[in-house]
Formats: sequence, C-alpha cells, structure tokens
Amino acid sequence: MVLILLGPPGVGKGTQAVRLAEELRAVHVSTGDLLRAARRDGTELGRRAQKYMDAGELVPDHLILDLVRDHLAGVPNGVPVLFDGFPRTTAQAEGLDQVLEQSGRRVDLVVLFEAPDETIVKRLGGRRSCPQCGAVYNVHFSPPTVEGRCDRCGSPLQQRPDDVPATITRRLEVYREQTSPLVSFYEDAGVAFERIRADRGVDEVYGDFKKSVEVAR
Ligand code: AP5
Repeated sequence: MVLILLGPPGVGKGTQAVRLAEELRAVHVSTGDLLRAARRDGTELGRRAQKYMDAGELVPDHLILDLVRDHLAGVPNGVPVLFDGFPRTTAQAEGLDQVLEQSGRRVDLVVLFEAPDETIVKRLGGRRSCPQCGAVYNVHFSPPTVEGRCDRCGSPLQQRPDDVPATITRRLEVYREQTSPLVSFYEDAGVAFERIRADRGVDEVYGDFKKSVEVAR
C-alpha cells in the first residue's frame, strides 16, 4: 500500500504517520526528516537545502525527487509506504507516479489533514523535538515530564529553526500556493481521497485515520 499524508505544516502529519507506521510495520518517508538528517550529516544535499528550509520555502523538486527515489530503491514491493510531507508540488506528484510505476505500484490513498491556521500556529510554536531520538513534544499539548528534557533518552529538547512566527507564516503561504493544488490533482486523478478534521485530540484523529486506511487496504 502507498499512502500520502497531505496537509499544512504542523497539522499533525508526522505524529499520525509515526503511529500508523509502527502499527502497520510500514516505511515512513518524511522528506522533512530526511532533509534535516542530511543537514546534520553535512551532506551536499543538506547544504543545498538549508537556505530554503530556514526561509520556509520548498527545496527544489529535482533534489526532492532524487532523495525519494534513492530512499525507495531498497523498499520491497509488499511493504506499505507512508509519505509524509511529500509530494508538495504537482511536479513532485507526477515524479512520484513515475517512480512508483517503475516498480508496478501506485498511490492507493491520499489523506488530507485539515485544521484552522490558529491551531496550526499554536502547535508549531509549542513543538519541541529531541535531536537524539526524534521524539516530538508540545509545550501546550504534550509536554515532557521534565521541562526541556526528552522522556525517552534525557537529551535536551530543541525548537526547530523554522518554527518561528515569520517562517510559520511563510510556510502556510507556500502550502496554499504550491501544495494545496494537489487536492484537485488527486481528486481529478480518481485516487481514493479522505479528509480528516485534525483539530481534535491525537487519538480521535488517529481513529478516523486508521478507519480510512483500513477501508482502502
Ligand atoms: P517538514 O518537516 O515536512 O515540515 P511541515 O510539512 O511543515 O510539517 P511539520 O513537520 O512542521 O508538521 P506535521 O504536520 O508533521 O506536524 P507534527 O506531527 O510534527 O518540512 C520542513 C521543510 O523542509 C519545508 O518547509 C521545506 O523547506 C522542506 N521540505 C520538506 N519536504 C519537502 C518537499 N517534499 N518538497 C520541498 N521541500 C520540502 O505536529 C506539530 C506539533 O503539534 C507537535 O508538537 C505535535 O506534538 C503537536 N500535535 C500533533 N497533533 C496534535 C493534536 N492532534 N493535538 C495537539 N497537538 C498535536
């Protein structure tokens, strides 16, 4: 199964994807996480992506498509794949179709997570992540037991450099301009498509998300 999680920054795609990937033993492909890892490792891709990410702009399509192609190369056909934060442009969606076609796969389901901007701004402003183990917290909704420390590994938590007000505003604009056209792209293509109200608790959102996936499997 190939599943796409679509939606604005901070709507909760990553939170939902991690949970479903664990349950389905699926491969979770987050292009944001892959780019951040490339930056940490100081690779050429990481260096090229940095200025776009810090400004809240999209990294150029050809870099993203190469990244996804490489990442998918080792994934056997029967293993479910969850794309989180990819594709983000029509060119990326077309590129993904080509990559999948080469291995006899296709997109089985697109799930759009929706929430008002106020909810998103609050979630992003409160997000803290662990640079060691990747755990994600929120100072408003899911704080760590000890302030500023990861519950899992004890490392100091960090705020993402793009989770600051001016960059959040730009990321929302970029989503509207360049990513939201994917809604009609997939609807017109006749791909199974579900909308989920994400301005609810994590468990409630996950319940609806899982139901949609079960219907499409
Ligand atoms: P990326 O890392 O993909 O960021 P994003 O799409 O902006 O999404 P986020 O990770 O910010 O949010 P999310 O929806 O996963 O929310 P989360 O679950 O963490 O991309 C970053 C940058 O990389 C881009 O700006 C771009 O430059 C580049 N990039 C990446 N992919 C690209 C691509 N394909 N093409 C071009 N450029 C690309 O939740 C957010 C917070 O809310 C957390 O604190 C969480 O704990 C909390 N939360 C989640 N759900 C709930 C809930 N139901 N109730 C309360 N709190 C909740």
